[in-house]
Amino acid sequence: MGKGDCSMSFQLSGSAPEIYENTMVPMWFGRWAEALLTFVSLKPGEAVLDVACGTGVTTRIAKLDVGNGGRVTGLDINAGMLAKARELAADMDITWIESDVLGTGLPKDNFNVVISQHGYHYFPDQPAALREFYRVLAPSGRIAMSIWDGHSAYTKALCSAVENFISPEIAKKQRGQRETPSADKLIADVSGAGFRNVTVARQELSIKVPLAAEFVPLHLGSMPIANAFQSLPDKEKEALIADVADTLRGQVVGDQIVYPDAVNVVTGVK
Ligand SMILES: C[S@@+](CC[C@H](N)C(=O)[O-])C[C@H]1O[C@@H](n2cnc3c(N)ncnc32)[C@H](O)[C@@H]1O
Repeated sequence: MGKGDCSMSFQLSGSAPEIYENTMVPMWFGRWAEALLTFVSLKPGEAVLDVACGTGVTTRIAKLDVGNGGRVTGLDINAGMLAKARELAADMDITWIESDVLGTGLPKDNFNVVISQHGYHYFPDQPAALREFYRVLAPSGRIAMSIWDGHSAYTKALCSAVENFISPEIAKKQRGQRETPSADKLIADVSGAGFRNVTVARQELSIKVPLAAEFVPLHLGSMPIANAFQSLPDKEKEALIADVADTLRGQVVGDQIVYPDAVNVVTGVK
C-alpha cells in the first residue's frame, strides 16, 4: 500500500452508492459512526469537517451534535456518494464539497474538528492528507479517524472466494479494502504531521449480517468490484456465494452470520 497504489481506491458508480447506504451503512458503517464521534465530544457551535464522508452517516450525526449554531462540511471525491448524502440530509444545513482530500481549497484554521471514517487508507498520499487536516484545523483543533483493523473472518472468506471464482487481480483489489495501517503506523503518521496527544483505541463490535446468499450479492454490489461480480455467469456467482457460506458455516446463528470486527480510532490535537 502506498502513494499511487490503485488497488486501494474506493470509487463507486451506478447504483452502488444506493446499495452502500441501504445495506452497508446499517450493518457496518452506521454501527461505527456513533462510536467515532464519542472520541471528539462535539460541542454545540463547533465547526466540523468530515473527510471521505461517503453518503454522510457520520456527517449527519456531527450536525445533530453541534446544533444550529454549528457548521458541518462533508467532503468526498465521489459525486454519486455525495448525491446520496445531499438527498438524505435535504433538511439539514450541511455543506457538501466534491473534492480530493488534497487540495480542498478550504481556508486554514477553519475547523474545530476533523473526522474521517474508513477513508484514510484510501488516500494516495496519507502524509499530505494529514498536513491538509492540520492546516484547516484551528489551534487546539481535534482529529479523530477510524480505520479498519485489518480483515475480519467475513472479509477473509469473501476475498478467498473472489480469488477462486473471479480472479487474483480482482481479489487483490478487494483485499486492498482492508489493508490498513497498524496502530503504531497510525500514531507515527499522525504525530509526524504535527499533532500532539496522539492515541489509538481499538474498538471491537459483534457484526451480524444476513446469510451469504443474501448478503454477498448486496455487499459486492456496493463495492468497486461490483461489475466483476455482476458479470459472472449465474453458476459462478452461486459457487462464489457457496464458498463464502462454507467457510463461515461455524459462524451462522439462526439466519445470520455473526462475527467480530474491529477498528482503530486515532485521535490527536493540533
Ligand atoms: C468506505 S467509504 C466510507 C464513507 C463514509 N465515511 C462512511 O463511513 O460510510 C470510503 C469513502 O472514501 C472516499 N474517498 C476515497 N478516496 C478519497 C480521496 N482521495 N479524497 C476524498 N474522498 C475519498 C470514497 O469516495 C468513499 O466515499
